[in-house]
Formats: sequence, structure tokens, C-alpha cells
Amino acid sequence: MKKIFAMILAFIMVLGLVGCGETTKEPAGIFPDDYDPSVLTSSDIKYTLEELEALSKTELSADSVDAPALREYFNNMLIGCAFGYNQCLDLNSPVTKSLLKHYDVFVLGNECKPAYINPSEGVMRFDDVDGFVEFGKLTGATLRGHTLLWHAQIPDWWFKADPNDSRTPRECYEQGALATREQLTERITTFITEYVTRYKDDISIWDLCNEVLNADSIRTVNDDSYWAEIIGDVDGNGYKDDYVEIAANAARAADEDAILIINDFNMEWQTSKTQAMYDMVERMLRKGVRIDGVGFQSHIGLDCNVNLYRSQIEKIAGLAEIYDECFPEHKGNFRVQITELDMNMFVGANADGAYYRWSDEEYEQQAAKYAELFDMYQDFADEGIIDMVVLWGTDDGGSWLNSTPKMRRNAALLVLREEEGFLLKPCFWSIAKTSFDHYVVE
Ligand code: GLA
Repeated sequence: MKKIFAMILAFIMVLGLVGCGETTKEPAGIFPDDYDPSVLTSSDIKYTLEELEALSKTELSADSVDAPALREYFNNMLIGCAFGYNQCLDLNSPVTKSLLKHYDVFVLGNECKPAYINPSEGVMRFDDVDGFVEFGKLTGATLRGHTLLWHAQIPDWWFKADPNDSRTPRECYEQGALATREQLTERITTFITEYVTRYKDDISIWDLCNEVLNADSIRTVNDDSYWAEIIGDVDGNGYKDDYVEIAANAARAADEDAILIINDFNMEWQTSKTQAMYDMVERMLRKGVRIDGVGFQSHIGLDCNVNLYRSQIEKIAGLAEIYDECFPEHKGNFRVQITELDMNMFVGANADGAYYRWSDEEYEQQAAKYAELFDMYQDFADEGIIDMVVLWGTDDGGSWLNSTPKMRRNAALLVLREEEGFLLKPCFWSIAKTSFDHYVVE
């Protein structure tokens, strides 16, 4: 009898163990309450430049306790990372540990987007965002919501007069079956109100709108965007960017304290686009629509012209004065954020390259370029202009640049692929080193 009891007990214990293993993969609410992030980094690390130089000559995986945590290096700005929801679920995995260890800011790359949240009328899927919020609480990370509106990864039904219409938005446009201004206004207002209200205590920053501009003005149907076509120029000021204001007003009504950012790409070098962004945000600020900052996506290349990029940030930073004038009670709150930083290695003569084994020399060139960038970011952080830099992906394997514009082996980020040991790359160390010119870590 005793033997049978012991066998049953052993069986229950085995089940229990399997269960324990699985709990770390469960969504929302299942992360342990007593999780202690200090176990991720050795308390012996002194964070001196000499220590860093020495460590940079060793091979360390991004989740190693002997590696310094990147976020310890910046006192004037936060450092963040975008990832897929499934990358944050296993607290024992190198990738999840590396997120908790190195970053102050978390962003979900896809699961916060409207097509994911509101795939059909009346359906709001918040499970993954709830889990993301729980994950953020493990270290008290700042959460960015990316993105309330965009022209891509948007539920198609929003743009249709009949939400059940099986035609594409393009066909609806061509055949006169797009939603009306009133319908679309109602849909985005309902969406933003419910979404931002739900997370007002957890998500402090929202990309209000992503990529609203083409090279020099608001995107149109020719740029695959139906927003301007449908909502149009409501206030009659000659610009069809009113949907951005509608979104901003809904988000602001839901969360008075939300930091609302307009985010776009190519502004690092395309002066016409940066000027168009400046003009649009100025118009909105002067109308009383509080936009709290502009996001430079910063999908840059190894050949990035950092001086040009600097002047583009300076241009946008000029909006702070207008913001302060229009919203004196929020003086000093306008900011620039670097929201999707990564570095395409296929540039110049190698622009069409495919599979590639990157040489030590190329990794060093990348390290030098990343250092140049972070030096600039910290100059702006020292002036109170940039408050965060977010990397778009956890490691070289997980970057969208391995499949866009075609399948190839890029090396865009700070950590080697898992099959290459998940090692910290020279650019990780060069970035950390730049901080010593701005802030000496004791
Ligand atoms: C753009 C978007 C991001 C993401 C990347 C590609 O930059 O803003 O959300 O989709 O493209 O991964």
C-alpha cells in the first residue's frame, strides 16, 4: 500500500515539475511575483572603463551574468528593445534574460498593432498586451505602445463601408465602397479610447501614428494609405492630416498624461520629409493638439551620415520651443525618441549582397558607426532632447533586415544569433564605451 502511495506521490511530483517548467511560458499573470532581476548581472562588475575594455576582449553571451547590463551605462536616456511576445515568455531562455538584463524600455514589434488587436468588428484581443505589461513589471521597464495607427498592419475592415465586404481596401477604393469619414472617425475613436484607457497605468508612451508622411507630405492612396483619402481635410486648412489630430484627441481624452509620439523613417537623411514632419507637428501644436515628440525610426545603414542625421534631429528639436509656447504647463516635455534603431550592413557595393559571413573588420566598422551614433544620441540626451533609444530586435537572427528587401543574412544588431553563441558583438562594447564621455559609471 505504502509503495503504491509513494508511486502516486512520485507521479504527482513529476507532473508538478513539468507544470513548473511550463509556467514560465504561460501568458499574463503567471510570471513569478518574487522575480529578482539582480540575479542577471554579477554584483562584482565595477563598470569602469578598464573593466569594460578587459571584458570586451572576452566572449560573453548577452545573458551571461558576467556581462555588464547595457542600461547601466546611460543616465540621461533610457535604452530599449523591441521583441516578439513569444520572446519574453521563458524566463530561463537567453533571449528573455537578455531583455530583462539590458533594457529599460520594452516594445512589442507586432502584437500592439491595430490589425492584431482589432482583427474584426467587435473583437479586441488584449491577451498578449496584458502579458507584455506583466513582463514589464518584472523590472519596472517603461513600455512603449507601437502603434495606434499606421497604414500597414491595420484591420482592412476599418476602411470599408461594409465591414464584412470581402473586397480589398484597394478594390473598395476603386469601386466607391470605402468607409465614410464618419465611419472611420468612429472606428478609430472607439479603438483608441478603449485601448489607451485600458493601459493608461501601464503604457506611458504611444506611437500615436506611424509613417504618416511620404517624401514631403501626407501619404495618399498612391502610397498605400487610405487615411487621407477617407478622413481628408476636416478643418479646411489645406492639409489632409486631420486623422492624426482625431487620433491624438482620442488618445489624450483617454489618458491626459500619455506621451504621444509621431514616428517615421528616413528622416535621418531626407530633409524634405523632416521639414514636412516639422511643419505638420507645428500646425498641430498651434491648433492646441499636444504632440509630445517625434520618433526617428532610424533604420540606418553602415554608411549613415551621422552629421546629416544630427542636423535633422536638431531641426525637429526646434519644435520644443513651439511646444513650450503652446503648452506652458507642459514646458520642457517635448522630446525626440530613437524608436527602431538597427543597422543594415548591405550598403554601397555590397547593397545587393545575400548570404555573407561578416568579417571581424566589418564588425569593427559597425562598432565604430554605432559608437558615432551613440555619441550623438548622448549629446542630445545631455541637452534634454533625446530621452530614449530603442533597438529594433534582440539579436542579428531576429531582425526584419534578414528578409527585407530579400532573404539574406544581415547583421544589424548588438548580439550574434543564438546559433553563434548569442555573443555580445563589438558594437555592444563600443556603445557602452561612449557613455564614459558623457557619464562616468562608478
Ligand atoms: C517599420 C514599422 C515597424 C516594423 C518594421 C519592420 O519600421 O514601424 O513596426 O514593422 O517596419 O519590422
